[in-house]
Amino acid sequence: MSTKLKILEIFNQRGSEYISGQELAEILGVSRNSVWKAIKKLQEQGFQIESKTSVGYRLSQISDLLSCEYIEENLPFPCKIHVLDKVDSTITYAKKLDDLSYPNIVLANEQTKGRGRLGRSFYSPPSSGLYMSIAFKPDFELSKSMLVTTISALAVCQAFEEVVGIGPKIKWVNDIYINNKKVCGILTEAESNFEIGSIDKIIIGIGVNCFSQNFPEEIKSKATFIENPKKEFTRNQMAVAIVKNFFSLISDFDNKKILREYKSRSMILGEQILIYGASYGALPENGGRGIKARAIDIDENGGLVVEYMEGRRTREMETITSGEVTIRKEIS
Ligand code: BTN
Repeated sequence: MSTKLKILEIFNQRGSEYISGQELAEILGVSRNSVWKAIKKLQEQGFQIESKTSVGYRLSQISDLLSCEYIEENLPFPCKIHVLDKVDSTITYAKKLDDLSYPNIVLANEQTKGRGRLGRSFYSPPSSGLYMSIAFKPDFELSKSMLVTTISALAVCQAFEEVVGIGPKIKWVNDIYINNKKVCGILTEAESNFEIGSIDKIIIGIGVNCFSQNFPEEIKSKATFIENPKKEFTRNQMAVAIVKNFFSLISDFDNKKILREYKSRSMILGEQILIYGASYGALPENGGRGIKARAIDIDENGGLVVEYMEGRRTREMETITSGEVTIRKEIS
């Protein structure tokens, strides 16, 4: 790791505390001049480093630039990183990439047409969230592909636990919640080759509301951001942790363990829910009232096993797949 990146790590660990050039030099085992040069370089790259005479340096709290270099250097395997200031959607961008000899990670500081599930939009204002898409060519069998969405949600939860120090919950299939409000949404898309029955490309779009923001009226009561984290964090660290966890869960594929870990973070198992969309009627935003059911289990393919609680199928069990449906936890 370069002196610059080590300094960034130390700043992140120390939060708002100032640290002297002398102390940095001692920790890193380099000269004060090297520290000074590295800090100057970081400032040139856009990192806002504040300095106070006779006290030292600190990273400004608003300085959370996405850094290609940081992400590349901190991933234990090669990836092609694309950092963009503004883009319509990182998924749309990632779809156009065709050299997938390595996984491609696309990050943007802002999205103008952030996409969500079921044709919804994803609010993506500048410098507030992590808007990231991971595009890769799967070299594994279909059974693993079925669990990609499940694995993504688990990887995000693990990243929150490691980087932010808080344990979020998963609302099937892959919405991440803190205190009953959504903090992260995930949209997975695949491009398949029907002729040979293979999946050519998988794109996982992840949107995390990292910092304080004014949500639009329509999502205000349902959305949240990472408030009062137990650890100071940056979007770069969050991105690294998500990508690392995702590929580690995929490569060390242990179906049972993945499902166990996923279920232990579920916020709906055993609870009463409402199912909307597809054969369950209109989505809530279109006035749908949903079908009442109880969430019983998650099956080996990540499907949600439910028991209906109303209508002609009362007490019948069924496994629903994520495709076209959405669920709400019913507040009774
Ligand atoms: C959802 O909550 O319905 C899924 C939201 C997914 C949002 C992310 S942000 C990065 C990527 N680019 C997009 O346009 N969408 C995903």
